[in-house]
Formats: sequence, C-alpha cells, structure tokens
Amino acid sequence: MMDQKEEAGKVFLRYAEGYDTTNGLIAHKIEHTFRVAALSERYANALGMSAEDVRCAWFYGLLHDIGRFEQVRRFGTFVDSQSVDHAELGADLLFNEGLISRFPTEGLPEDWRAMAEPVIRLHNKLRLPEALDERTRRFAEILRDADKTDIFRVIASIPFEERIGSSKASFADTGEAAGEAVMACVREHRCVPREIRHNRFEGRISHCCMAFELVFEISRQTVRDEGWLRALLAETDPAGKPLWTEQEAEQLRELRGEIEKAWDISLDEAGEKKS
Ligand SMILES: [Fe+2]
Repeated sequence: MMDQKEEAGKVFLRYAEGYDTTNGLIAHKIEHTFRVAALSERYANALGMSAEDVRCAWFYGLLHDIGRFEQVRRFGTFVDSQSVDHAELGADLLFNEGLISRFPTEGLPEDWRAMAEPVIRLHNKLRLPEALDERTRRFAEILRDADKTDIFRVIASIPFEERIGSSKASFADTGEAAGEAVMACVREHRCVPREIRHNRFEGRISHCCMAFELVFEISRQTVRDEGWLRALLAETDPAGKPLWTEQEAEQLRELRGEIEKAWDISLDEAGEKKS
C-alpha cells in the first residue's frame, strides 16, 4: 500500500502539472514545495515531535504554497502586493473550494484539519497573532522556519526575473545604500516591513533580516550549514569582484554582525557556537 506521504506527493504533482510546468516559475515552486516539506519534517523531528506530528508538519509544507499556481496563472507574478495574497488564495482553494479532499490524510493527528487552515493562512504574514493556541503555533513556526530556510536558497541561487516573474520589478536598482528606517530594523533584529523598502539593496537587506525571525535553533543551524544566507551577505562575487559600494558593503557587514549576535552562532562554514 502506498503511504500517505508518497500518495500526497503524487496528488500534489498531479495538481501542479495541470499548470504550465514549462513555465520556470511553476517548476521552481514545485521544487520549493518539496524542499519546505522536507525541512518541516526535519525540524519537527529535531523538536522531538511524534511520528504523526512529523508527518503532519511535512503535509503542511506540501500544501503551504498551493495558491502559487493559481496566482501565477491569473496574474503571471509571485508578487503578492501586485496580485493576491497567495497564502489566503491557497487556503481558500483547499478549504472553501474542496481541494483538500483530493489529499490522503490517514495517519495524520486527529486535529490536523483544525490546524491546517490557520497554519497555511499565516505562513507568509509578518507576525503570528498572539491568540494562537500553543500547538497550532508550533506547527506554524515550523512551517515558517522551513519556508524561510528555503527562501534563502531561492533568492541566492535563482535570478530575480526567473523567480518572481514580474516585469514590474518591486524594487528599482537605484544604487543607493539602505536608509535609516531599514537599518533600524537591522539593529532591532526584526523583519523589514514591505512599506519601507525602496530599492533593490534594501530588498536584499530585508530578505536577510528574515534570519532574525527564525524560531528554532535547528533552523538557524540548517541555514548556516546550507550557506545561502552567507552567499546573500557576500561582499564580492566568486571571482572577488566587489558587488556593492563601500557603504553598502559596510551595511552588510553590520547586518551580518547583528545576525551573529542574535543567533549566538557564527555564520562561517564550520560555525561553532560563539559563546
Ligand atoms: Fe508561501
């Protein structure tokens, strides 16, 4: 008998293949989905959760971005602010339009359904609401950490147009360093709200600031070990050519220092705990 995980993966792929898989945006999203599912599973395991909870964490990872396919079909972009909130769209499709009924759910914990909707709707929000029961919060945190972990890879390894699909780039490359409001977020160890980002470099800073929001030690270790955050903070390209102006490079160094302070971990390859 096929197990739930294998079968759910097949249902997901069948669904995704109903869209234009020759479109690079779709192909990247399929890869991202399976990576986030696997990372969620790894984090749940590391947190000592039960086998069925681990499976549930994997399943939420599989479902979390399902709204992306309709988003790209309808709007041709992954930029939520120029189209639709993809987390809300995905949850609407799953739970209001019945898409969830295609997925096998045997072997999941009894309360999987009650948690699924908030976990998916909240996966892309800046903050989790205070009023969230502890168990749902834990699953939401696992998914959000797993998603962020893989977003570092996506941003560092896939060119902007290929992963966003918008001709209207969100941020122009103005050649300016980051402003005070953005650097204040860096010093306060928090994510940069969308409204205060104005150019491509501030976009880079704010992506890296997701590091401050990682909840679990295992997530921070994984991000460090994968090396993508380090790549995003690099001052030179692999050939040693500077990527940024001196002022920008200095801001990146400051950001790196703040992340290491917040994590109490070095971002170097063989990063040991600092203290
Ligand atoms: Fe997402």
